[in-house]
Amino acid sequence: MKLKDLFRHAVEAGIDADPRGRAFIEKRLKKEKERAKDLKGDEKKFYDEDRTWNPYLDSRIIAGTGEEDVKCVMVGIDIESAEMILADRLREKGHKIDAVMIHHPEGRALADLDKVMPLMVDLHAQWGVPVNQTEGNLRPRMDRIWRAIHADNLFRTERTAEILGLPAFNTHTITDNMVFQLMEKEICKKSFDSLGDIINAIHKIPEYEYYAKKGNPCILAHGSKNSRPGKVAAAGFTGGTNGPEEMLAALARAGVGTVISMHATEKEVEVAQKEHINIVQCSHMASDVIGMNILLDTLSKKEKKLTTVDVSGFIRVKR
Ligand SMILES: [Fe+2]
Ligand SMILES: [Fe+2]
Repeated sequence: MKLKDLFRHAVEAGIDADPRGRAFIEKRLKKEKERAKDLKGDEKKFYDEDRTWNPYLDSRIIAGTGEEDVKCVMVGIDIESAEMILADRLREKGHKIDAVMIHHPEGRALADLDKVMPLMVDLHAQWGVPVNQTEGNLRPRMDRIWRAIHADNLFRTERTAEILGLPAFNTHTITDNMVFQLMEKEICKKSFDSLGDIINAIHKIPEYEYYAKKGNPCILAHGSKNSRPGKVAAAGFTGGTNGPEEMLAALARAGVGTVISMHATEKEVEVAQKEHINIVQCSHMASDVIGMNILLDTLSKKEKKLTTVDVSGFIRVKR
């Protein structure tokens, strides 16, 4: 399958897994298309056309024309120049790698990371946090992310890929939506007597089991194994990056008893202690791997001959 078609399927699968629902996303895209029509001058000149069809601007084809035929992808959670050179070395040794598939954003996908964060407004509304509160909490954090990334050497990895003739694309929020849905189904929608029982259930998921065996288990950033979970929210899986600690306090006030997340900052742990909200911190890498695996399962239905070379934290688990 052509890279551009494979990527379009990935975007569609991301929309299907989006906690806001397809109708919401389509409405937003329609509005963006209308806005794009009226742009003039520099606004038109610098306009990013992808905005009219891709609601996940942290997920993009970063190298290649999109016309390349893709059957074997090298998949990694973080891919920089080193892994691009690895792909090139493998090709030199006769391995057929058609494209590189990355989780964490590179290139323009990284430049636009802040633009996926408003997803959290509607996500947290599902747990009872008013949209105005999340918007207010999120805005300064989005501005900080935008300024911090702005100074990065954004196009290093994509340039390496271009020079080596390696088509590359990344799927970030697309696949984070997928791990979010899996945690909803496997953990949040079920009832558990204690945090220990939640950890046991998480460790039955193959990617978490693999990472736990390697010394990167699911841990309790706050709470004990015997603590009762209360209402459980998978708040730290999708939406670009973690929100500020004020969002955790808002969840506690909205009645959430336990948050499951890929990361917990020190400030969040402090808030958790004060608000008596539990934090179950899952392996970040295993979580990202799950999302990539679920997407690859979907893409394998479209391209029957799809195979992977697993690098940089990724292990292929088929469901
Ligand atoms: Fe992720
Ligand atoms: Fe991640």
